[in-house]
Amino acid sequence: MADKPARGLADVVAASTALSDVDGVAGRLYYRGYDIHDLAGRTSFEECVHLLVRGTLPTTAELDTLVAELAEARTIGASAQAVLPHVIRSGTPMEALRTLVSALSVDDPDASDSGAEANQRKAVRLVAQMPMLVATYHAARTGGAAPDPVVDLGIAGNFLLQITGSRPSPRAAEIFDECLVLHADHTMNASTFTARVVAATLSDMHSAITAAMGALRGPLHGGANEAVMKTMQSIDGGVDGVEAYVRQTLDAHGKLMGFGHRVYKTEDPRATHLRRISEELADSTGDRGYYKMSRRMEEVVFDVKGLYPNVDFFAASVYHYLGIPTDLFTPVFAVSRMSGWTAHVIEQHLDNRLIRPDSEYIGERDQKWVPIEER
Ligand code: ACO
Repeated sequence: MADKPARGLADVVAASTALSDVDGVAGRLYYRGYDIHDLAGRTSFEECVHLLVRGTLPTTAELDTLVAELAEARTIGASAQAVLPHVIRSGTPMEALRTLVSALSVDDPDASDSGAEANQRKAVRLVAQMPMLVATYHAARTGGAAPDPVVDLGIAGNFLLQITGSRPSPRAAEIFDECLVLHADHTMNASTFTARVVAATLSDMHSAITAAMGALRGPLHGGANEAVMKTMQSIDGGVDGVEAYVRQTLDAHGKLMGFGHRVYKTEDPRATHLRRISEELADSTGDRGYYKMSRRMEEVVFDVKGLYPNVDFFAASVYHYLGIPTDLFTPVFAVSRMSGWTAHVIEQHLDNRLIRPDSEYIGERDQKWVPIEER
C-alpha cells in the first residue's frame, strides 16, 4: 500500500527540470541558473523566451532570428477567428481564451507532431499568438479591432499598444517587459504541472497548454492578481479601511488574495521587483492610492498573520497603473507563462515517462453487493 500522501502534493518532487529553480527559504528564483534579480529589468522578454525555450541567453544574432520568427508568427488562424464571436459572449476572458488557445491547433501546421523541431516551432507560435489573442479578444468584445503591432516594439510594447489603443511610453514598455520576465516560469506551479501531466501522455502541446490555461484561471493560482485588484476596489475608506478588511477576512477564515505561497517561506523575489515598479508608477502617474493601500495591506497582513505578498499582489496595482483592464490581469499572466509552459512541454517530451501517481483509498471496504430491488 502507498504511503499517506502529502496533502496537495506539498514537498513532493513531481518532475526533474533544468528550466527554473526556487529556493523557498532564501527567497531566490533562477531561470536556467540565472538569478531573477539579474534578469529582471536587464533582459528582455524575448531573450527570456530564448533562454527558456531554446536553452541559452541569445547572442544578438540569435535574438534577431527569434524576434523575426515571433513577428512572423503573430497571426491568429481562421478557426480561432471563427470561434471569437461566440466566446466573447461568456464575459470571462480566461474562459474565452482557454477556448481560443485550443482552437489555435486547428490551423497549426505542426499540430499533431510532437517531435523536437515541431515543438520548437509551436512554442514560438504560441508565445507570439497569446498576446494577439488577448488583444483581439479585448477589441472584439468592445466592438472594434486591435491596432496592428508595430515593428519597433517588442511583445510587451505591442501588447500595451493593442490593449490601450495608444503607443506606450518607452518606460511603460520597459516596465511591462520586466513584468513578463518575472512571470515567465516557476517550477511545478499548478498550471505547469498540469501541462506536464498532459504532455506526459504524449498528447500534443496545444492540449497541454489548454489544460494549463484552465489551471491558471483559478483564484488560488493566476486568478489571484485580478482578485487582488477587486479586493482593493472593494475596500471602503482606502488606506484607512485596509486593516479592518484584513482582520474581518481573517476572522471569517477567508483568504487574503495575493498573500502566501506554497514554496516561499520569505519574500517572493518577484514581489520585490513588482513593489518597486508599483511605487515608480504610482509616482509617475500621480495616483498613489492603490500603491499606498497595497503597502498598508502587506504591513497589516504580516503583523497579523505573518504572510508575505506573492507575485500576484503588486502585479495588480502595476497592471492597473499601466492601463490594463482588471479582468485581463490573468490573461496577462498567460501571455508571459506561455514561455514557461511550452518550454516544459518540450522538456517533458524530450525525456518522457507517464505521470501517474498513486492515491490513498479512504472509502468503504468489503461492501456486500445486493440486487437493486433489495436496496
Ligand atoms: N490568506 C489567509 N490565510 C492564508 C493565506 C492567505 N492568502 N495563505 C495561507 N494562509 C493560511 C491558511 O489559512 C493556513 O492557515 P491555518 O494553518 O491556520 O489553517 C496556512 O496559512 C497554510 O495555508 P494553505 O492554504 O494550506 O497553504 P497552501 O500552501 O496550500 O496554499 C496558496 C498556498 C494557495 C498560495 C495560499 O497561500 C493562498 O490561498 N493564497 C491566496 C491566493 C493567492 O494569492 N494565490 C496566488 C499564489 S501565487 C501563484 O499561483 C502565481
